Amino acid sequence: MCNEEAVLAVKDLKTYFYCKGRVVKAVDGVSIDVYKGRITAIIGGSGSGKSVMSLSILNLIDKPGKIVDGQVLLHGKDLLKFSEKELRGIRGRQIAMIFQEPSCALNPVVKVKKHMYEAVRIHDKGARMNNLLDGFRQTLLRVGLSEPDRVLESYPFELSGGMCQRVMVAMGLVTNAEVLIADEPTSSLDLTTQAEILEELLRLKEEGMAVILITHDLGVVAQTADDMYVIKDGKIVESGTVREVFANPKNEYTRYLMDPITIHN
Ligand SMILES: Nc1ncnc2c1ncn2[C@@H]1O[C@H](COP(=O)(O)OP(=O)(O)OP(=O)(O)O)[C@@H](O)[C@H]1O
Ligand SMILES: [Mg+2]
Repeated sequence: MCNEEAVLAVKDLKTYFYCKGRVVKAVDGVSIDVYKGRITAIIGGSGSGKSVMSLSILNLIDKPGKIVDGQVLLHGKDLLKFSEKELRGIRGRQIAMIFQEPSCALNPVVKVKKHMYEAVRIHDKGARMNNLLDGFRQTLLRVGLSEPDRVLESYPFELSGGMCQRVMVAMGLVTNAEVLIADEPTSSLDLTTQAEILEELLRLKEEGMAVILITHDLGVVAQTADDMYVIKDGKIVESGTVREVFANPKNEYTRYLMDPITIHN
């Protein structure tokens, strides 16, 4: 897709869940390459393995799940071989993630301003809250939160689900990571905010970030992404540049996703 070397390369990743004597092969041999200054979309229906793949990249899979095979190479080094301590140095600092479920990712007893502050502190230990607040307000406005001062002083449980999702996106935007994984960053948001958030992702890409954009919305892919992978039942069924795949979708499932009459999720 690109001649440069991938910043992040996932190789033959397999993540399985072992439940009640059954094995769910959530991710079953996925390989993707992610490049600096490009948006790589992962598209697939509900349950296809998108979130499990992104959590696996950061080695955040808990029991009954297990990464059973594969590599996650960041600049050629396999993160799956890193210790938990080493990984903590990577998460947020080199690879930031906007989680699909903000309620799980935001600590309910920590105010939004502290969440954002910690997101910055990961890469800038000397950062002072007072110097950052103006920037935080701007970022919250950019993701469609019209009362940034109130939001900064709020605890997550005082905000609606949609507001928490915007806060998560804002936290992704203030990190200075090399790779940003955005897992459905715009689902459940109104169209205007969706558009604003996609604009922000494009801006980060222009600044050289490598962005993984997880979505089930082909329209979003068409508007923003450079490269794309179609995932179904834990397997990549099609990949290429967005231009190539849209011009000539080879896989039946990709063509199904492209059918405007079907309701996908
Ligand atoms: N904790 C878990 N225990 C058992 N199975 C799980 C667990 N988490 C995920 N799975 C299974 O892994 C598969 C992939 O789930 P995943 O969350 O990655 O889907 P997704 O593509 O992100 O879907 P969505 O678009 O709905 O977010 C599903 O079959 C799901 O049931
Ligand atoms: Mg998901």
